[in-house]
Amino acid sequence: MSRVATRVGLVVSISSVCGAMCAPPPARRLADMIQIQNLTKDFGSRTVVDSLSFEVRPGVVTGFLGPNGAGKSTTMRMILGLDRPTSGQALIDGMRYRDLPRPLTVVGALLDARWVHGQRSARAHLAWLAASNDLPRGRVDEVLDLVGLTEVAGNKTGSFSLGMSQRLGLAVALLGDPRYLLLDEPDNGLDPEGIVWIRRIMKRLAAQGRTVFVSSHLLAEMALTADHLVVIAAGRLIADMSVQAFIADSAISSIRVRARDLGVLGEALTSAGGDLERLEDGLALRVHGLSAEQIGEVAARVGAVVYEIYEEHGSLEEAFMRRTEDTLQYHSAAESKVAV
Ligand SMILES: Nc1ncnc2c1ncn2[C@@H]1O[C@H](COP(=O)(O)OP(=O)(O)OP(=O)(O)O)[C@@H](O)[C@H]1O
Ligand SMILES: [Mg+2]
Repeated sequence: MSRVATRVGLVVSISSVCGAMCAPPPARRLADMIQIQNLTKDFGSRTVVDSLSFEVRPGVVTGFLGPNGAGKSTTMRMILGLDRPTSGQALIDGMRYRDLPRPLTVVGALLDARWVHGQRSARAHLAWLAASNDLPRGRVDEVLDLVGLTEVAGNKTGSFSLGMSQRLGLAVALLGDPRYLLLDEPDNGLDPEGIVWIRRIMKRLAAQGRTVFVSSHLLAEMALTADHLVVIAAGRLIADMSVQAFIADSAISSIRVRARDLGVLGEALTSAGGDLERLEDGLALRVHGLSAEQIGEVAARVGAVVYEIYEEHGSLEEAFMRRTEDTLQYHSAAESKVAV
């Protein structure tokens, strides 16, 4: 295979061995992604985003995680041209946001759901945006329906709850049918049904081949929603990997064993190098340092009757805490005392 770059953002694969019977190779839009390159932002003497480099790809949900004050919103604002980088750059489709033709049709963003003019109705707000961006008027009712606001579309947005404002914010983001979605804590204020709803919407948008970049503090939810993670702390990149890899790298996994002869088995497992914890019910052991296969072999050797061997995987929350605990800027006094 040889590769020929045709212009910024387009790379076409050409097979040198493929004859006339071969279907033409699919073109891959290399720049169909967000590219963050050495992005840095100083506020006065403070560096709040520090030489960040990563890419956000289409077709998957990428979760953007970090403790309070890590620099997530500032990064998103720089991608959207709302904050000027001190150095480095953020590119969408290989371009800066301000150079995009008809940006609302390329990137949809939900940063602060409360910025809407409170005296305007949801429909009027969307209609104004559609008109000023040369978008079809019919799209307004489509997105209202999509976010479940049709019934209250005539109400003033000032009367909306936080969750309803988030839904309206998502409607704005989707108005131009964009290929990129940047969502800053879209689950903030949503009820449980709303959280499931937004999870499904994000997954569906990604499955359609769009690029979905979403920040959230709801880690259990992110574990269900995101395929890929970009984790930052104190403005620096901590991880850029799949959710599974992040958990496997950072959270402790163990194996729970339920057996009839726990005493005999426990001694044998300790001799084999396992680190054991007897669980509260007294009927099971938690084993660190040995694989399920090794435990099975030891059990067979000592003739222990095993009822269950169960792999316990660490959670995203546990992995996140481990990887970011040294960088926490904002945590409660009570936590500090406990730590002392
Ligand atoms: N306009 C500004 N002027 C000065 N400092 C700012 C400004 N905007 C953000 N900051 C600071 O930059 C740091 C990063 O803020 P940012 O809002 O990007 O964090 P975040 O990761 O989005 O946090 P959270 O999870 O709380 O939303 C914070 O310490 C914040 O106080
Ligand atoms: Mg933020």
